[in-house]
Amino acid sequence: MPPYRIVKTCMERKKTMKNYDIGVIPGDGTGTEVTAEAMKALKAISEVGGPEFNLVHYDLGGERYLSKGELLPDSVLSELREMDAIFLGAIGHPEVKPGILEQEILLKLRFELDLYINLRPVVLFPGVYTPIKDKGPKDIDFVVVRENTEGLYTGSGGFLRKGTPDEVAIQESINTRRGVERCIRFAFEYCGKRNKKKKLTLCGKTNVLTYAFDLWERTFEECSSDYPDIETDYAHVDAICMWMVKNPEYFDVIVTDNMFGDIITDLGAMIQGGMGIAAGGNINPEGTAMFEPIGGSAPKYTGLNKINPLAAIAAAQMMLDHLEEETASENLLNAIKKVVKNDAKSMDAGKMGHGTREVGDLVVRYILE
Ligand code: IPM
Ligand code: MN
Repeated sequence: MPPYRIVKTCMERKKTMKNYDIGVIPGDGTGTEVTAEAMKALKAISEVGGPEFNLVHYDLGGERYLSKGELLPDSVLSELREMDAIFLGAIGHPEVKPGILEQEILLKLRFELDLYINLRPVVLFPGVYTPIKDKGPKDIDFVVVRENTEGLYTGSGGFLRKGTPDEVAIQESINTRRGVERCIRFAFEYCGKRNKKKKLTLCGKTNVLTYAFDLWERTFEECSSDYPDIETDYAHVDAICMWMVKNPEYFDVIVTDNMFGDIITDLGAMIQGGMGIAAGGNINPEGTAMFEPIGGSAPKYTGLNKINPLAAIAAAQMMLDHLEEETASENLLNAIKKVVKNDAKSMDAGKMGHGTREVGDLVVRYILE
Protein backbone atom coordinates (compact mmCIF):
# COMPACT_ATOMS: atom_id res chain seq x y z
CA MET A 1 0.00 0.00 0.00
CA PRO A 2 1.51 3.38 -0.97
CA PRO A 3 2.41 5.69 1.93
CA TYR A 4 -0.26 8.27 1.17
CA ARG A 5 -2.87 5.60 1.75
CA ILE A 6 -1.48 4.94 5.24
CA VAL A 7 -1.67 8.63 6.07
CA LYS A 8 -5.25 8.77 4.88
CA THR A 9 -6.15 5.72 6.94
CA CYS A 10 -4.76 7.38 10.07
CA MET A 11 -6.79 10.49 9.38
CA GLU A 12 -9.89 8.44 8.80
CA ARG A 13 -9.41 6.68 12.09
CA LYS A 14 -8.93 9.96 13.92
CA LYS A 15 -12.15 11.19 12.39
CA THR A 16 -14.17 8.10 13.35
CA MET A 17 -12.89 8.38 16.90
CA LYS A 18 -14.44 11.81 17.32
CA ASN A 19 -16.85 11.86 20.23
CA TYR A 20 -19.17 14.79 20.85
CA ASP A 21 -21.05 15.69 24.00
CA ILE A 22 -24.54 16.69 22.96
CA GLY A 23 -27.01 18.27 25.39
CA VAL A 24 -30.43 16.97 24.39
CA ILE A 25 -33.57 18.83 25.43
CA PRO A 26 -36.54 16.92 23.99
CA GLY A 27 -38.94 19.42 25.60
CA ASP A 28 -42.71 19.18 25.44
CA GLY A 29 -45.43 17.45 23.45
CA THR A 30 -44.28 16.12 20.13
CA GLY A 31 -40.83 17.61 20.79
CA THR A 32 -39.90 14.38 22.56
CA GLU A 33 -41.19 12.27 19.66
CA VAL A 34 -39.21 14.07 16.96
CA THR A 35 -36.10 14.24 19.16
CA ALA A 36 -36.16 10.45 19.48
CA GLU A 37 -36.11 10.13 15.69
CA ALA A 38 -33.30 12.66 15.29
CA MET A 39 -31.23 10.75 17.86
CA LYS A 40 -31.98 7.50 16.03
CA ALA A 41 -30.57 9.08 12.87
CA LEU A 42 -27.42 10.19 14.71
CA LYS A 43 -26.94 6.66 16.06
CA ALA A 44 -27.12 5.33 12.51
CA ILE A 45 -24.56 7.94 11.43
CA SER A 46 -22.18 6.62 14.13
CA GLU A 47 -22.79 3.05 12.96
CA VAL A 48 -21.59 3.81 9.45
CA GLY A 49 -18.29 5.18 10.69
CA GLY A 50 -19.37 8.70 11.57
CA PRO A 51 -18.60 10.42 14.86
CA GLU A 52 -19.86 9.13 18.20
CA PHE A 53 -22.32 11.11 20.29
CA ASN A 54 -22.49 11.15 24.03
CA LEU A 55 -26.10 12.23 24.55
CA VAL A 56 -26.89 13.98 27.83
CA HIS A 57 -30.64 14.39 28.27
CA TYR A 58 -32.27 17.29 30.14
CA ASP A 59 -35.96 17.26 31.02
CA LEU A 60 -36.47 21.01 30.66
CA GLY A 61 -39.99 22.03 29.69
CA GLY A 62 -43.59 22.23 30.81
CA GLU A 63 -43.69 18.99 32.82
CA ARG A 64 -40.66 19.88 34.94
CA TYR A 65 -42.02 23.37 35.48
CA LEU A 66 -45.44 22.08 36.56
CA SER A 67 -44.08 19.41 38.88
CA LYS A 68 -41.00 21.16 40.35
CA GLY A 69 -41.46 24.83 39.50
CA GLU A 70 -38.11 24.75 37.71
CA LEU A 71 -37.44 26.32 34.32
CA LEU A 72 -33.74 26.51 33.48
CA PRO A 73 -31.70 25.91 36.65
CA ASP A 74 -28.21 27.47 36.77
CA SER A 75 -26.64 24.03 37.21
CA VAL A 76 -28.20 22.85 33.92
CA LEU A 77 -27.14 26.04 32.18
CA SER A 78 -23.51 25.58 33.25
CA GLU A 79 -23.55 21.98 32.05
CA LEU A 80 -25.01 23.01 28.71
CA ARG A 81 -22.25 25.61 28.29
CA GLU A 82 -19.71 22.78 28.24
CA MET A 83 -21.44 20.75 25.51
CA ASP A 84 -20.12 20.55 21.96
CA ALA A 85 -23.67 21.30 20.81
CA ILE A 86 -27.26 21.31 22.04
CA PHE A 87 -30.33 19.77 20.45
CA LEU A 88 -33.78 21.11 21.30
CA GLY A 89 -37.04 19.36 20.37
CA ALA A 90 -39.71 21.95 21.18
CA ILE A 91 -40.89 23.91 24.20
CA GLY A 92 -44.56 24.74 24.89
CA HIS A 93 -47.15 23.13 27.15
CA PRO A 94 -50.94 23.66 26.99
CA GLU A 95 -51.18 24.01 30.79
CA VAL A 96 -48.49 26.67 31.07
CA LYS A 97 -49.35 30.27 30.27
CA PRO A 98 -47.80 31.26 26.91
CA GLY A 99 -44.53 33.14 27.29
CA ILE A 100 -43.15 31.52 30.45
CA LEU A 101 -41.42 28.53 28.90
CA GLU A 102 -40.46 30.45 25.76
CA GLN A 103 -38.84 33.27 27.70
CA GLU A 104 -37.36 31.37 30.60
CA ILE A 105 -36.01 28.42 28.62
CA LEU A 106 -35.66 29.08 24.89
CA LEU A 107 -34.88 32.80 24.94
CA LYS A 108 -32.81 32.47 28.12
CA LEU A 109 -30.65 29.84 26.41
CA ARG A 110 -30.22 32.13 23.41
CA PHE A 111 -29.24 35.09 25.61
CA GLU A 112 -27.14 33.30 28.24
CA LEU A 113 -25.13 31.31 25.71
CA ASP A 114 -24.95 34.40 23.48
CA LEU A 115 -26.28 32.46 20.49
CA TYR A 116 -26.37 35.61 18.44
CA ILE A 117 -27.05 34.02 15.06
CA ASN A 118 -30.23 32.23 14.12
CA LEU A 119 -29.47 30.47 10.87
CA ARG A 120 -32.54 29.36 8.95
CA PRO A 121 -32.14 27.77 5.55
CA VAL A 122 -35.13 27.93 3.21
CA VAL A 123 -34.53 25.06 0.81
CA LEU A 124 -37.12 23.20 -1.22
CA PHE A 125 -36.00 19.61 -1.68
CA PRO A 126 -37.02 17.78 -4.88
CA GLY A 127 -40.31 15.97 -4.30
CA VAL A 128 -41.60 18.40 -1.66
CA TYR A 129 -44.77 20.37 -2.31
CA THR A 130 -44.55 24.15 -2.32
CA PRO A 131 -47.73 26.24 -2.41
CA ILE A 132 -45.98 28.58 -4.85
CA LYS A 133 -47.12 27.74 -8.34
CA ASP A 134 -44.44 27.29 -10.97
CA LYS A 135 -41.55 27.43 -8.50
CA GLY A 136 -39.29 24.49 -7.80
CA PRO A 137 -36.10 23.47 -5.96
CA LYS A 138 -33.90 25.60 -8.22
CA ASP A 139 -35.92 28.70 -7.25
CA ILE A 140 -36.25 28.15 -3.52
CA ASP A 141 -32.78 27.94 -2.05
CA PHE A 142 -31.74 30.72 0.30
CA VAL A 143 -30.73 31.25 3.90
CA VAL A 144 -31.95 33.77 6.46
CA VAL A 145 -29.41 35.01 9.01
CA ARG A 146 -31.54 36.31 11.86
CA GLU A 147 -29.98 38.35 14.66
CA ASN A 148 -30.88 36.36 17.78
CA THR A 149 -30.09 38.32 20.95
CA GLU A 150 -31.27 41.91 20.43
CA GLY A 151 -34.06 43.91 18.79
CA LEU A 152 -37.53 43.55 20.26
CA TYR A 153 -36.57 40.37 22.09
CA THR A 154 -34.54 41.81 24.99
CA GLY A 155 -37.56 42.48 27.18
CA SER A 156 -36.73 46.17 27.39
CA GLY A 157 -39.74 48.38 28.05
CA GLY A 158 -42.57 48.43 30.51
CA PHE A 159 -45.97 49.68 31.49
CA LEU A 160 -47.12 53.02 32.80
CA ARG A 161 -50.45 53.31 34.59
CA LYS A 162 -51.18 49.66 33.87
CA GLY A 163 -54.82 48.67 33.97
CA THR A 164 -56.11 52.24 33.74
CA PRO A 165 -57.63 53.95 30.71
CA ASP A 166 -54.38 55.93 30.42
CA GLU A 167 -52.23 52.85 30.19
CA VAL A 168 -48.99 53.02 28.20
CA ALA A 169 -47.09 49.96 27.01
CA ILE A 170 -43.57 50.38 25.67
CA GLN A 171 -41.56 47.64 23.97
CA GLU A 172 -38.18 48.82 22.81
CA SER A 173 -36.03 47.51 20.01
CA ILE A 174 -32.43 47.38 21.21
CA ASN A 175 -29.80 47.51 18.46
CA THR A 176 -26.16 47.84 19.42
CA ARG A 177 -23.39 48.61 16.97
CA ARG A 178 -21.49 45.57 18.24
CA GLY A 179 -24.50 43.26 18.03
CA VAL A 180 -25.51 44.43 14.59
CA GLU A 181 -21.99 44.32 13.22
CA ARG A 182 -21.19 40.79 14.40
CA CYS A 183 -24.41 39.54 12.83
CA ILE A 184 -23.80 41.32 9.53
CA ARG A 185 -20.18 40.12 9.38
CA PHE A 186 -21.31 36.55 10.01
CA ALA A 187 -23.80 36.90 7.14
CA PHE A 188 -21.11 38.17 4.75
CA GLU A 189 -18.74 35.35 5.73
CA TYR A 190 -21.50 32.77 5.45
CA CYS A 191 -22.55 34.08 2.04
CA GLY A 192 -18.97 33.75 0.81
CA LYS A 193 -18.60 30.19 2.12
CA ARG A 194 -21.97 29.18 0.72
CA ASN A 195 -20.61 30.24 -2.65
CA LYS A 196 -23.86 30.35 -4.62
CA LYS A 197 -25.11 33.69 -5.93
CA LYS A 198 -22.83 35.56 -3.52
CA LYS A 199 -25.54 38.08 -2.84
CA LEU A 200 -26.44 39.39 0.60
CA THR A 201 -29.75 41.21 1.07
CA LEU A 202 -30.34 43.38 4.10
CA CYS A 203 -33.99 43.16 5.19
CA GLY A 204 -35.12 46.23 7.15
CA LYS A 205 -37.60 49.06 7.31
CA THR A 206 -35.48 52.15 6.84
CA ASN A 207 -38.46 54.26 5.79
CA VAL A 208 -40.17 53.96 9.19
CA LEU A 209 -37.73 52.55 11.75
CA THR A 210 -35.36 55.40 11.08
CA TYR A 211 -33.06 54.84 14.06
CA ALA A 212 -32.71 51.08 14.29
CA PHE A 213 -32.38 50.41 10.59
CA ASP A 214 -30.25 53.46 10.01
CA LEU A 215 -27.70 51.75 12.25
CA TRP A 216 -28.20 48.47 10.38
CA GLU A 217 -27.85 50.14 6.99
CA ARG A 218 -24.70 52.11 7.88
CA THR A 219 -23.09 49.05 9.44
CA PHE A 220 -24.03 46.95 6.40
CA GLU A 221 -22.49 49.47 4.02
CA GLU A 222 -19.33 49.86 6.08
CA CYS A 223 -18.81 46.10 6.41
CA SER A 224 -19.48 45.48 2.72
CA SER A 225 -16.16 47.07 1.71
CA ASP A 226 -14.39 44.15 3.44
CA TYR A 227 -16.24 41.66 1.22
CA PRO A 228 -15.80 43.01 -2.32
CA ASP A 229 -16.81 39.73 -3.99
CA ILE A 230 -20.27 39.79 -2.40
CA GLU A 231 -23.04 41.72 -4.08
CA THR A 232 -25.20 43.67 -1.65
CA ASP A 233 -28.82 44.60 -1.80
CA TYR A 234 -31.45 46.13 0.45
CA ALA A 235 -35.23 45.59 0.68
CA HIS A 236 -37.88 46.58 3.18
CA VAL A 237 -39.35 43.68 5.14
CA ASP A 238 -42.79 44.00 3.55
CA ALA A 239 -41.27 43.87 0.09
CA ILE A 240 -39.16 40.86 1.16
CA CYS A 241 -42.40 39.01 2.04
CA MET A 242 -43.77 39.83 -1.37
CA TRP A 243 -40.62 38.71 -3.19
CA MET A 244 -40.34 35.51 -1.16
CA VAL A 245 -43.66 34.47 -2.68
CA LYS A 246 -43.37 36.07 -6.12
CA ASN A 247 -39.67 35.60 -6.93
CA PRO A 248 -37.93 33.51 -4.26
CA GLU A 249 -35.08 32.80 -6.70
CA TYR A 250 -34.05 36.41 -6.17
CA PHE A 251 -32.47 35.58 -2.81
CA ASP A 252 -29.21 33.97 -1.72
CA VAL A 253 -28.60 35.12 1.88
CA ILE A 254 -30.85 37.55 3.77
CA VAL A 255 -29.68 39.23 6.98
CA THR A 256 -32.14 40.88 9.33
CA ASP A 257 -33.06 41.71 12.89
CA ASN A 258 -34.64 39.38 15.43
CA MET A 259 -38.33 40.20 14.93
CA PHE A 260 -38.32 40.45 11.14
CA GLY A 261 -36.24 37.28 11.04
CA ASP A 262 -38.81 35.49 13.17
CA ILE A 263 -41.62 36.49 10.86
CA ILE A 264 -40.02 35.95 7.46
CA THR A 265 -38.71 32.51 8.42
CA ASP A 266 -42.22 31.22 9.11
CA LEU A 267 -43.10 32.39 5.62
CA GLY A 268 -39.90 30.72 4.45
CA ALA A 269 -40.88 27.46 6.16
CA MET A 270 -44.17 27.45 4.28
CA ILE A 271 -42.61 27.87 0.84
CA GLN A 272 -40.13 25.06 1.54
CA GLY A 273 -42.89 22.60 2.39
CA GLY A 274 -44.02 23.52 5.90
CA MET A 275 -43.01 23.20 9.55
CA GLY A 276 -42.48 19.49 9.05
CA ILE A 277 -39.22 20.12 7.23
CA ALA A 278 -37.92 23.52 8.48
CA ALA A 279 -34.88 23.54 10.77
CA GLY A 280 -32.64 26.17 12.29
CA GLY A 281 -29.51 26.70 14.30
CA ASN A 282 -28.93 29.15 17.17
CA ILE A 283 -25.24 29.75 16.88
CA ASN A 284 -22.44 31.45 18.73
CA PRO A 285 -19.67 31.17 16.13
CA GLU A 286 -17.05 31.41 18.89
CA GLY A 287 -18.85 29.10 21.33
CA THR A 288 -21.61 26.55 21.45
CA ALA A 289 -24.71 26.21 19.29
CA MET A 290 -28.23 24.85 19.64
CA PHE A 291 -30.21 23.23 16.84
CA GLU A 292 -33.98 22.88 16.64
CA PRO A 293 -36.88 22.25 14.32
CA ILE A 294 -38.42 25.71 13.93
CA GLY A 295 -41.99 24.59 14.62
CA GLY A 296 -43.55 24.31 18.06
CA SER A 297 -44.49 21.41 20.34
CA ALA A 298 -47.86 20.81 18.57
CA PRO A 299 -49.50 19.39 21.74
CA LYS A 300 -52.64 18.21 19.97
CA TYR A 301 -50.57 15.62 18.09
CA THR A 302 -48.79 14.28 21.20
CA GLY A 303 -48.59 10.51 21.33
CA LEU A 304 -50.27 10.03 17.96
CA ASN A 305 -47.11 9.19 15.97
CA LYS A 306 -48.26 11.70 13.36
CA ILE A 307 -45.85 14.61 13.41
CA ASN A 308 -43.10 14.83 10.81
CA PRO A 309 -39.66 14.23 12.39
CA LEU A 310 -37.79 15.46 9.29
CA ALA A 311 -37.44 19.03 10.61
CA ALA A 312 -35.78 17.64 13.74
CA ILE A 313 -33.61 15.33 11.66
CA ALA A 314 -32.67 18.27 9.42
CA ALA A 315 -31.74 20.19 12.60
CA ALA A 316 -29.43 17.28 13.53
CA GLN A 317 -27.94 17.53 10.05
CA MET A 318 -27.25 21.24 10.57
CA MET A 319 -25.59 20.31 13.85
CA LEU A 320 -23.24 17.90 12.02
CA ASP A 321 -22.49 20.64 9.55
CA HIS A 322 -21.68 23.03 12.39
CA LEU A 323 -19.39 20.42 13.99
CA GLU A 324 -17.61 20.29 10.60
CA GLU A 325 -18.49 16.64 10.15
CA GLU A 326 -18.91 17.06 6.40
CA THR A 327 -19.24 13.40 5.46
CA ALA A 328 -21.73 12.63 8.22
CA SER A 329 -23.71 15.75 7.37
CA GLU A 330 -23.84 14.82 3.70
CA ASN A 331 -24.92 11.25 4.51
CA LEU A 332 -27.75 12.49 6.65
CA LEU A 333 -28.81 15.11 4.12
CA ASN A 334 -28.91 12.49 1.36
CA ALA A 335 -31.06 10.21 3.52
CA ILE A 336 -33.51 13.08 4.18
CA LYS A 337 -33.64 13.89 0.46
CA LYS A 338 -34.38 10.23 -0.36
CA VAL A 339 -37.25 10.07 2.11
CA VAL A 340 -38.90 13.21 0.77
CA LYS A 341 -38.40 12.09 -2.83
CA ASN A 342 -39.38 8.42 -2.53
CA ASP A 343 -41.54 7.95 0.53
CA ALA A 344 -43.20 10.90 2.25
CA LYS A 345 -46.41 12.05 0.56
CA SER A 346 -46.49 15.38 2.35
CA MET A 347 -44.50 17.19 5.01
CA ASP A 348 -47.65 17.83 7.06
CA ALA A 349 -48.54 15.96 10.25
CA GLY A 350 -50.83 13.02 9.57
CA LYS A 351 -50.46 13.33 5.80
CA MET A 352 -47.01 11.83 5.32
CA GLY A 353 -48.33 8.36 4.49
CA HIS A 354 -46.09 7.10 7.32
CA GLY A 355 -45.93 7.63 11.06
CA THR A 356 -43.30 9.64 12.94
CA ARG A 357 -41.30 6.53 13.85
CA GLU A 358 -41.61 5.06 10.36
CA VAL A 359 -40.21 8.22 8.76
CA GLY A 360 -37.31 7.97 11.24
CA ASP A 361 -36.85 4.29 10.28
CA LEU A 362 -36.70 5.22 6.60
CA VAL A 363 -33.99 7.81 7.27
CA VAL A 364 -32.03 5.18 9.20
CA ARG A 365 -32.48 2.65 6.38
CA TYR A 366 -31.09 5.08 3.80
CA ILE A 367 -28.14 5.92 6.05
CA LEU A 368 -27.29 2.26 6.54
CA GLU A 369 -27.80 1.06 2.95
C1 IPM B 1 -38.89 30.86 16.95
C2 IPM B 1 -40.04 30.96 17.89
C3 IPM B 1 -39.62 31.75 19.12
C4 IPM B 1 -39.18 33.13 18.65
C5 IPM B 1 -40.68 31.85 20.22
C6 IPM B 1 -41.15 30.49 20.64
C7 IPM B 1 -40.21 32.65 21.39
O1 IPM B 1 -41.14 31.52 17.27
O2 IPM B 1 -37.88 30.23 17.32
O3 IPM B 1 -38.98 31.36 15.83
O4 IPM B 1 -40.00 34.04 18.52
O5 IPM B 1 -37.99 33.30 18.41
MN1 MN C 1 -40.84 31.96 15.17
